[in-house]
Amino acid sequence: MESQVEEIKKKLDIVDVINRMLPLKKRGRHFIACCPFHQEKTPSFTVSPEMQIFKCFGCSKGGDVFTFYQEFNRVDFREALEELAKIAGVKLKTNFDEGQNKNRKKILEINNEVAKFYHYMLMTHPLGTVAKKYVMDRGIKEETIKQFGVGFCPEQTSLIVNYLKKKGFSENEMIMTGTFGKSNYGNRLYDRFMGRLVFPLIDFRGQILGFSGRVLPGANPAVAGQMAKYINSPETEIYHKSQMVFGLNLAKDFIRKENAVIVVEGEFDMISPFAADIKNIVAVKGTAFTEEQLQLLRRYAETLILALDADFAGNHAAIRSIELAEKLDFDIKVVDLLGQFKDPDEAVRADPKWFKQRVTAAISIWDFIINSAVATFGVETIKGKKEILNMVLPFISRIKSEVIRSDYLHKLATMIGSDTESIKKEMERKDSNFKLQTSNREMIKTILIEKEPKQDRRDEMEERLMTLIMGAKNKVKVAKRVDENLKFATIKWQKIMELILRDKIDWEKPLNKVPEELKDIFGGTFLTAEAQDLEPIRRKREINKMMAKLITIDLKKEIIESAQKIGKYEREENQEELDRAEKENIAALFKLSKWQKLQK
Ligand code: UTP
Ligand code: MN
Repeated sequence: MESQVEEIKKKLDIVDVINRMLPLKKRGRHFIACCPFHQEKTPSFTVSPEMQIFKCFGCSKGGDVFTFYQEFNRVDFREALEELAKIAGVKLKTNFDEGQNKNRKKILEINNEVAKFYHYMLMTHPLGTVAKKYVMDRGIKEETIKQFGVGFCPEQTSLIVNYLKKKGFSENEMIMTGTFGKSNYGNRLYDRFMGRLVFPLIDFRGQILGFSGRVLPGANPAVAGQMAKYINSPETEIYHKSQMVFGLNLAKDFIRKENAVIVVEGEFDMISPFAADIKNIVAVKGTAFTEEQLQLLRRYAETLILALDADFAGNHAAIRSIELAEKLDFDIKVVDLLGQFKDPDEAVRADPKWFKQRVTAAISIWDFIINSAVATFGVETIKGKKEILNMVLPFISRIKSEVIRSDYLHKLATMIGSDTESIKKEMERKDSNFKLQTSNREMIKTILIEKEPKQDRRDEMEERLMTLIMGAKNKVKVAKRVDENLKFATIKWQKIMELILRDKIDWEKPLNKVPEELKDIFGGTFLTAEAQDLEPIRRKREINKMMAKLITIDLKKEIIESAQKIGKYEREENQEELDRAEKENIAALFKLSKWQKLQK
């Protein structure tokens, strides 16, 4: 082993290897770059060709070519060894494929086959005709479909299962990929993406980690209305939602070249612009992004151009993301679609040139926030000015650079016809108020800036909870326990819950006594439940977790509502109502802290 590592190191030049991933500049006897492991604007990351090592003088990270490869690509030693052996042209003698690594490889192999199969179904098979028409009607060309490997998953799961069996994969291996589940009912595998248009979720190294699937309009009308528009692979040994950045494999070189990345919400919002030659673009699948996603993007670009939901500044969903991005020293800009289009996909399809112009005209996030506040509240009245300050100052106070911060304070002052000094004082006052505020206020703030779950995600969660209930041994008892804490929001689940609670179901022949209109959804859920195979202890834990999540959502709504009431009654100086609202608020916060603990 040791000798092979040495052999690889001898055959590789660290400068050459790093340069493939991170462009280096020559300076004297060394090579330099901005450090990929911490944020900086002047390069302190140094590579020495003589010593074949790297060292960052900013964050003090350093090591040899193996260390770099592992850290940069976030892989373990084994994977680094294999990749570097390839680059060096060294054939590894020891084959120490076992455990986790073996699973990862298997999943990747199967995912590749699955993607090929889905893609074939979409492109050539008669079963894919409707789906193909749908994509083409959305203005996506064949060439783009191929480039992204878009596919279609037919309803007949046996087709792909047999295909994979022929390729030598076992059912357990298939299940490991998250794409397939097993139903005890017929003892057959089902495919989670049945009937959906499928996008492979590919990481920045080009590996297919999972899939997402979109319902087709009009498909299976009995359930179409109740299905989530998009579903994604569950977490597996290789797929982690929080790290996924859709399209990065295709876009990364363009992002690096432009030193800017356009971030959109959905698969189509990434694909359409990309096909229209706007190539430095990725999707985060939703409005809020994680620190991991931002860090990944920060390796390639300094400028982050947000082209998210038209109303995203109005809602609080993006604020946390903006804070995170600011922390990572991104220059953050916003594309304003001027309320003319719902999303980038629609804008590009209508008028790619116009969309390009909007991207070029993207303005700094701080300008965007000031402008939207001014447009919303108006500068004509004292009240309007107050509201503007309330909305904008929390953002401005978080700008890291003092120069830029004071620029924006000045701009804000000019816009509302005040002087910079007083606004600065106001900001400092608010800031210290802010620090003095109780932990309750802190919590309300974090609640406000979290992404509000979309209705269908809540529905998905309710579905999961119901599946867990139906899979339990004593279903009535479990249902009662849930019912004591939580009411389902969706009518269909309410009705099914009623039936279970009143012990109206013959679990030997479960569909017998279920009303016609609930049969599909009941049957589907029951099948999934049968397939779940959870130990009772884990099931109980999962149920508590799911319940906690749902209750938390409800409580957060309550908290926001009562917080808004508090503000209103404070302004109206209505003491009685104020007391009541504060009591409500505190009670909900109290409950929340209890349930939040159970979520984990
Ligand atoms: P949108 O609801 O805005 O859909 O969700 P969209 O992108 O416009 O979809 P089309 O154009 O109707 O096909 C934005 C993104 O959030 C994720 C998806 O990645 C979606 O593209 N999402 C949405 C989910 O993961 N699950 C959902 O149920 C909905
Ligand atoms: Mn769309």
